Amino acid sequence: MARSTEAVGIVGLGYVGLTTAACFAARGVKTVGIDVDEEKIAGISRGKPPFVEEGLEEMLRKALKRGYLNVTSDYDALADARIYYITVGTPNTRKGSIDLSSVKSASRSIGKVLRSSEWYKLVVVKSTVTPGTTSQVVRPLLDSESHRRQDNFGLAANPEFLREGHAIEDTMHPDRLVIGASDLTSERTLVSFYRGFYRSLPKTIRTTPVNAELIKYASNSFLATKISFINEIANLCANIPGADVSVVAKGMGLDKRIAPSFLRAGLGYGGSCFPKDVQTLIKLAEQVHVNMSIATTAHKANRRQALVAIELTQKLIGDISGKKIAMLGLAFKPDSDDMREAVSLRLIRELMNKGAKVTAYDPAAVPNARRIFGDRIDYSKSVKECLNRADCCIVVTEWPEFSKLRPAHFKKLMRTPAVVDGRRVLDPQLFVKSGVRFAAVGYSGST
Ligand code: UGA
Repeated sequence: MARSTEAVGIVGLGYVGLTTAACFAARGVKTVGIDVDEEKIAGISRGKPPFVEEGLEEMLRKALKRGYLNVTSDYDALADARIYYITVGTPNTRKGSIDLSSVKSASRSIGKVLRSSEWYKLVVVKSTVTPGTTSQVVRPLLDSESHRRQDNFGLAANPEFLREGHAIEDTMHPDRLVIGASDLTSERTLVSFYRGFYRSLPKTIRTTPVNAELIKYASNSFLATKISFINEIANLCANIPGADVSVVAKGMGLDKRIAPSFLRAGLGYGGSCFPKDVQTLIKLAEQVHVNMSIATTAHKANRRQALVAIELTQKLIGDISGKKIAMLGLAFKPDSDDMREAVSLRLIRELMNKGAKVTAYDPAAVPNARRIFGDRIDYSKSVKECLNRADCCIVVTEWPEFSKLRPAHFKKLMRTPAVVDGRRVLDPQLFVKSGVRFAAVGYSGST
């Protein structure tokens, strides 16, 4: 492992901040992680991440044990750091625009630390922020709190592209680095840090803060649009005899210009990033009188897509009032316990409105679901328990264990074996042949 003498402070220990901190510390960077949530700090210092993320717990424990990572709520601990990362959350307000209050408070606190500093320091904005935030919001707060010692610190926007569930891999092996520095010294400082960290610098784009901020929104909105597009093709396939979106998507993806990723049709995208970022981009464009019609449609189409599962369920079993619906998957995607903006939320509410009795199973997200739905739905400890005496099963999240299910599992356990594959993890041929009532997103051969 390369050892670096650079000390780094990371403010905000959500999944981006904590993963970044653990990865830096794992490669010998002296790292201080700050969060205002004392309970979170207490758990992390015991080596317990507050969310499910592949490999993180082990990495965190090692980093703490070896003394490369210190987590605290005390900003004084940042005094010796040379680079400060802002990784706090940027949720949406009710009206869909960005809430920068955590970014502002982190900037103020870092500004105070800068006040007494003797050395040149660099502040890096990693949180997803709207264009102009780094220069027009963070910079003035740092200036005023540090008593205008601009020459003593640099500033850069450096968005992250980490996928939940793959955050360590994405941090250690990024496709690209985006460095939007406000001046040459800031750029060189950050490039030199990353050169030390990665040994061989990943593909790097050096640009202005505003372009860096936009790259993040444009990337997430493009990927979200790609998903909504394939979902639209899926809905078309479902109405054309013999058509199957998984074959169509495969054929499209072989074209290098299109590429196969993000062409998995399903019940739509969720999570803490895509829905929020697409909405923020639309709102931002509105403010400068630009109509983002493609992003707007992608967003609306995504909201409707979850309901395809209800339509397919009704197609299979008719009226769903009083029926037991087994829901396989609650998290917004596999390898995560995150239910923020998950498709399952919309679906559960809709099913309850229609009088269905929902029983759900998820390998990781049940504790989070309990916090949201309490005892209004039932929770199962296994697929088997979930399917028991159910009238219809809906696959909502593509956990690998669900793709191993065969018609016999459903036939043996359910009251009426009827399956809606909302994520295309089951082989339609096999199910249709087996006599199970089967429907899937983007598949016209539903029985
Ligand atoms: C996303 C981006 O992929 C990251 O690059 C970005 O850094 C991150 O947001 C962020 O802004 O912080 P993440 O939210 O973890 O990462 O999830 P993804 O793996 O991108 O999936 C998002 C949603 O799209 C999930 O609900 C997933 O089920 C859905 N999806 C994805 C599809 O429906 N079809 C696909 O083909 C791919």
